[in-house]
Amino acid sequence: MEYQVKGAEGKLGILIPGLGAVATTLIAGVEAVKKGFSQPVGSLTQMGRIRLGKRTEGRFPLIKEFVPLAGLEDIVFGGWDVYADNVFEAAAHAKVLEPMLLHSLKPELEAIKPMKAVFDQSFARNLEGTHVKEGANKMALAEQLMDDIREFRETHGCARLVMVWCGSTEIYIEEGAVHQTLAAFEKGLLNNDPQIAPSMVYAYAALRSGVPFANGAPNLTVDIPALVELAHEQGVAISGKDFKTGQTLMKTILAPGLHARALGVKGWFSSNILGNRDGYVLDAPENFKTKEVSKLSVLDEIFKPEANPELYGDMYHKVRINYYPPHGDNKESWDNIDIFGWLGYPMQIKINFLCRDSILAAPLALDLALFTDLAQRAGMSGIQEWLSFYYKSPQTAEGLPPEHDIFKQLMKLQNTLRHMMGEDLITHLGLDYYQDLVDTL
Ligand SMILES: NC(=O)c1ccc[n+]([C@@H]2O[C@H](COP(=O)([O-])OP(=O)(O)OC[C@H]3O[C@@H](n4cnc5c(N)ncnc54)[C@H](O)[C@@H]3O)[C@@H](O)[C@H]2O)c1
Repeated sequence: MEYQVKGAEGKLGILIPGLGAVATTLIAGVEAVKKGFSQPVGSLTQMGRIRLGKRTEGRFPLIKEFVPLAGLEDIVFGGWDVYADNVFEAAAHAKVLEPMLLHSLKPELEAIKPMKAVFDQSFARNLEGTHVKEGANKMALAEQLMDDIREFRETHGCARLVMVWCGSTEIYIEEGAVHQTLAAFEKGLLNNDPQIAPSMVYAYAALRSGVPFANGAPNLTVDIPALVELAHEQGVAISGKDFKTGQTLMKTILAPGLHARALGVKGWFSSNILGNRDGYVLDAPENFKTKEVSKLSVLDEIFKPEANPELYGDMYHKVRINYYPPHGDNKESWDNIDIFGWLGYPMQIKINFLCRDSILAAPLALDLALFTDLAQRAGMSGIQEWLSFYYKSPQTAEGLPPEHDIFKQLMKLQNTLRHMMGEDLITHLGLDYYQDLVDTL
């Protein structure tokens, strides 16, 4: 199937439920880059290149010059939060970026004020939201969100919109009957079904408004049959879940390497300490459970213990997150990995990653917004598995195991871009280079 990618003319509105650490670091970062203060490091759409054609051709353009992406100068940000702080105040509270940098962007950041949130404390009991919508039922709240979306589009003259969930992680829920069909879901919105999370109300409002949706947190949100059905019906792109930053990023870089060399793994113990609001929300066991499920899934898929029982059959994998206020957004993680090699001789790997959570997440949120908008213009609706590269727990078609190996995810992403633009896919087989040589002999 060939795609006709429409151009990126006009303004792109990026609508964000949850104007906390990640969102404000993203917004301030884009403003800083626009002013030439800094570089968008970590963003593939801004700094990454892609190889086209044969290795001998030397074609290696920037991705943003290869595919038509919205330019940073054409982005307008908006969002919702349960707190009324504007983006300058919220960024100052998050303490990710230096006060000097924030002050130099103050007018732009102050101008972005959150709209009232759809919130239910039973989904995040450590938050006490005051800036919250009221409505007769969840359908009425969804309609208020649709009004917000319409108004934002008109006020800012946006040609297109995307929504990226950067709100807190909600409590763990499993798919139930209300999530199975769109009809059941809409009935549930009217009946205030307790299994419909606030993030699902946002996703519903976005999709009904023809706005594609990407989910940066591990909550189910759009990863339910009812909303996949709505995405198809409306012809909009969706993807999730949970930005792949920090420890899980390191895991999906290292584990494919160990697996590639057929080295065995006996155990992988991962612990984290962090002290931002995300850490505070995750301190509640029901919220941590959502994150834990997302973090635990990656190793099994990479090592496939059932296919390699001698190497990975007994692997013990544990993930812990502890709230530790002194570290703020500077999350620290430790991994102890017990591996074994030739004849079963044991070895150990220790990783101590002193990362900055939102510094790692902000470029992912930007790329997801820009690539989701691209997918929409390419006419690709429904689940965008090629964006798995960005997620800890990629959303896939029912019954299809996700791919967690970051290198395979990157290849999939790059080949999707080549495919969209009618370029040859790259398989890395490379026999043709040698065939050409034989032919000339
Ligand atoms: N920073 C990372 O590296 C990273 C990685 C993966 C996933 N995430 C996820 O991204 C999300 C955001 O992370 P963060 O560090 O910015 O957290 P944060 O706590 O700083 O920000 C989340 C914001 O969402 C708001 N919020 C909560 N419920 C809401 C609702 N129903 N409607 C509107 N706003 C709502 C909160 O008030 C808060 O301001 C979290 O779910 C986190 O788990 C972050």
